[in-house]
Amino acid sequence: MNFSSQTSPPLVVERVVKKFRRAQTVVTALSGVDLTVRAGEFMVIMGASGSGKSTLLHAMAGLTDVDEGKVLVNGQDLSPLSDVQLTKFRGKEIGLVFQAFNLIPSLSAEENIRLPAPAGSDLAERVVQLLQRLNLQGRRLHKPGALSGGEQQRVAIARALICDPAIVLADEPTGSLDYDAGQHICQLLQELARDHGRTIIAVTHEPNVAMWADRVVVMRDGRNVDEFNPDGSRDPQKVAIQYQGLLRRPMESV
Ligand SMILES: Nc1ncnc2c1ncn2[C@@H]1O[C@H](COP(=O)(O)OP(=O)(O)OP(=O)(O)O)[C@@H](O)[C@H]1O
Ligand SMILES: [Mg+2]
Repeated sequence: MNFSSQTSPPLVVERVVKKFRRAQTVVTALSGVDLTVRAGEFMVIMGASGSGKSTLLHAMAGLTDVDEGKVLVNGQDLSPLSDVQLTKFRGKEIGLVFQAFNLIPSLSAEENIRLPAPAGSDLAERVVQLLQRLNLQGRRLHKPGALSGGEQQRVAIARALICDPAIVLADEPTGSLDYDAGQHICQLLQELARDHGRTIIAVTHEPNVAMWADRVVVMRDGRNVDEFNPDGSRDPQKVAIQYQGLLRRPMESV
């Protein structure tokens, strides 16, 4: 670990703007996001469809380059890194769960889980732990096509955690799960943050996921316009009311 990674916040987003250009149209997906996430924080991002949540996660992971501003991960500015450097850096520091799980169809659940790990890593024990933790014991050798949506999602989560990353970025990590399985994942994410000092950032639409977070950041039209801290009572109704209240505020006041 170098000096900067001990002193810098794990993730800083500074005035980030991201535009997608297609033919004559320009879509501004991020229009000036400023955000600092502290080590051991479980942060949730909420916002309407199209508000820029996935684009922000991709920018945080260096999967999309930004037009303005910068993203710093453990003090490292991502913008000057080459694709090869980025892939290496991401592999060391970040675990990713995508909105579409991005599993490789020809590989088994276990092989998919092992994908981010360097070849030859001795991960047998960790794989067993993760399969157990994610309730996938009987599914180790199944290919994604033979798994349910919820099982595929849990394989994607195990894959994000296999290298024990300091930062986990998860896009709708419970979207395909029933209530109990979703709550189980939230508990796992909270433990990673609270007990193991990992930094967790999860996008969700669900108040019963957001209620586990230390902080909920609300996105609107490409910007983080507001935030609140759930009170720890894990009451989804309270979180829904707080979130809706912020969304209803007129744009001029945010
Ligand atoms: N590759 C792309 N090319 C063009 N436009 C894009 C691209 N990716 C995202 N956008 C646009 O950027 C905006 C933000 O998209 P984004 O996927 O970040 O939204 P989101 O908040 O994750 O929505 P959802 O809740 O539906 O997943 C949308 O208007 C979307 O159409
Ligand atoms: Mg999205």
